[in-house]
Amino acid sequence: MPQHRDELSHLRARCGAHGPFFGADYNPEQWPREVHAEDLELMGRAHIDFVTVGVFSWARLEPEPGRFDLEWLDAVLDDLHSRAIRVDLALPVASPPPWLGVLHPDSLPQTRSGGTLWWGSRNQFDPSSPAYREAARRITRVLVDRYADHPAVVMWHVGNEYGQLSHGEHAARAFRDWLRRRYGDIDALNRAWGTEVWSLGLRDFEDVIPPRDTPYIVNPTLELDFARFVSDELLDCYLDLARIIREKNPHALVTTNFMGFFPLADYGAWMEHVDVLADDHYTDPADPATRLTASLTHSYLRTLGRGRSWVLMEQAVGAVNWRAHNVPKTAAQNRLDSWRAHAHGADAISYFQFRQAASGPETFHSALVPHAGPDTSRFRAAAELGEELAASPLAGQFPGSSRVFFVHDWDSWRASAGRGRVSEALDPITQNEAYYSPFFRAGERVDIGPSSLLITQDDAADGALADCYDLVVLPHQFLLRPALVPVLERFVGSGGTLLIGPLGGVVDQDLRAHLGGTGGGLLDLAGVLREEPWPLADAVTITAVDSATAQVHDFVEVLRTTTAQARWTMTQGPLSGRPLVTRRELGEGIVWYVGGLLGQGPLQAVITEVAAEAAIDLAPLPEDVELVRRGEHVVVLNHGQSLAHVHLGGQCVEVPGEDLVIGRDR
Ligand code: GAL
Repeated sequence: MPQHRDELSHLRARCGAHGPFFGADYNPEQWPREVHAEDLELMGRAHIDFVTVGVFSWARLEPEPGRFDLEWLDAVLDDLHSRAIRVDLALPVASPPPWLGVLHPDSLPQTRSGGTLWWGSRNQFDPSSPAYREAARRITRVLVDRYADHPAVVMWHVGNEYGQLSHGEHAARAFRDWLRRRYGDIDALNRAWGTEVWSLGLRDFEDVIPPRDTPYIVNPTLELDFARFVSDELLDCYLDLARIIREKNPHALVTTNFMGFFPLADYGAWMEHVDVLADDHYTDPADPATRLTASLTHSYLRTLGRGRSWVLMEQAVGAVNWRAHNVPKTAAQNRLDSWRAHAHGADAISYFQFRQAASGPETFHSALVPHAGPDTSRFRAAAELGEELAASPLAGQFPGSSRVFFVHDWDSWRASAGRGRVSEALDPITQNEAYYSPFFRAGERVDIGPSSLLITQDDAADGALADCYDLVVLPHQFLLRPALVPVLERFVGSGGTLLIGPLGGVVDQDLRAHLGGTGGGLLDLAGVLREEPWPLADAVTITAVDSATAQVHDFVEVLRTTTAQARWTMTQGPLSGRPLVTRRELGEGIVWYVGGLLGQGPLQAVITEVAAEAAIDLAPLPEDVELVRRGEHVVVLNHGQSLAHVHLGGQCVEVPGEDLVIGRDR
């Protein structure tokens, strides 16, 4: 598969789309034929040109094992084609029909405590179950044989939000095979897992079981390897079916919808296997921080795709139904959400779902066509947005390169969570967001992705990663692979600025502690030594070199400078006199280390200073204003109620409340 071809742009060009695709999940199996006719008419009115069909239609397509009912889908696809609406056709394998569980109870997932997850909802399959795998392949072959050449079908949507796991016997067998491939022999596994502790020595791979209910804390490397296995096994489910599609049509575009920062799948490893990246993102209109989360998550997709355009596969137009209190988006919020994603490179803006379900668990989830029908402000606003996006000047534009790279290693995140750790106050996702906040507030674009991307880029740039980025940030590099250290050293040596957050380099890829206080070499770069971590009972005062004071809360590390200078020092409590924030000049560059949880004010101040060293100006935008650059365009979103003024390209631009402006700044 070509790695860097922007398949979505090619597809849009082939389809003659000027703006991004605009669409929704379309579940015609829930409605009678006469409603389908109205659907088509309404899709036309809403400028919809892209729909994902039949994500949960398995029981309708295969009511009994091996008996297929496809005529209704033939008609749906033909109708959509007659209106030039392109189809992302789902392989409906996310939710097997009840008969699979009846005939093959072992296809049902097992919980850690050995309980069964039954049918009656959705997603009840064990990814390692042979019966499930075979049934999924069978329906895939049938759909691929019938629709691979259908002119409406432009993309294949494998499964949905892959994120299932099981702790039963099938998982145990597959996990053992995975471990055999990873370690080769049981001694290597015993060494990696540190099984001398608590008498866990394993005689053979057959002794391994997935993490299940245990009397006390489970071996953390077993947990981490199981998490890695689950991600790989889900990827294997996807690849199993993608292969069937590609065998029939090597040019087919195959995707599946990601879920941003998702704990059960390492998208850094999946990204090579999807032709078009797709993500589902549900902002929470009741939470002002939701904008930053969305911005960072879209940045992640953009980075994983190396700048290629991607699909916002699902979002809600109004309310979801799975939060405790489902505040709906206003039309203005929905419009700004969609433009944000588009400005971050989403060239298909799609929703869950087209028509609001009249029954079942999602009856109260919003859709483009609500229960009240099309004569509603909800539908009219959606149609206006469809029309507006169709004229967007942004589609197909390469986002442009970022000056800042945030490292987010999925297994580091997974390694730092769970029982037996230092403090739950240190959450990697929260740390990512806290470190991103000053960049977000300034409208400075940030790439965020796995360290493997930096390492690859370092190789490609022949040791001159500093030519690609000015600032690299490791908000929470708990797990550190030794290979990253020389890359960062070269980066800093040739002029880069490096910012490292707390608990950097604590363990290696097997969750073994890096000994000696140097964080596996990471802290050597910073010119500090860590003596021990120190969760705090109470906040303590810290003082900066310029005598400013602030508080550090929840967590610090006991640091000692070796070659670094202290910039902030603890001036209260048992660690008074210990450095907290340090700076070291190394070669042509600079390394900063932050050894604790700073409140947002002091953290903003530190990051602003660090960025200034890399000649990045983080002057904040007006409150409630968000700015995203794409290509030569600057999209300014004003989430506030009142008029905002923003300086762009030497001019003062006015952005009305709850509105946006697209400008240029050069
Ligand atoms: C997603 C799912 C959709 C729909 C949506 C509701 O997780 O993929 O099918 O259920 O949530 O918000």
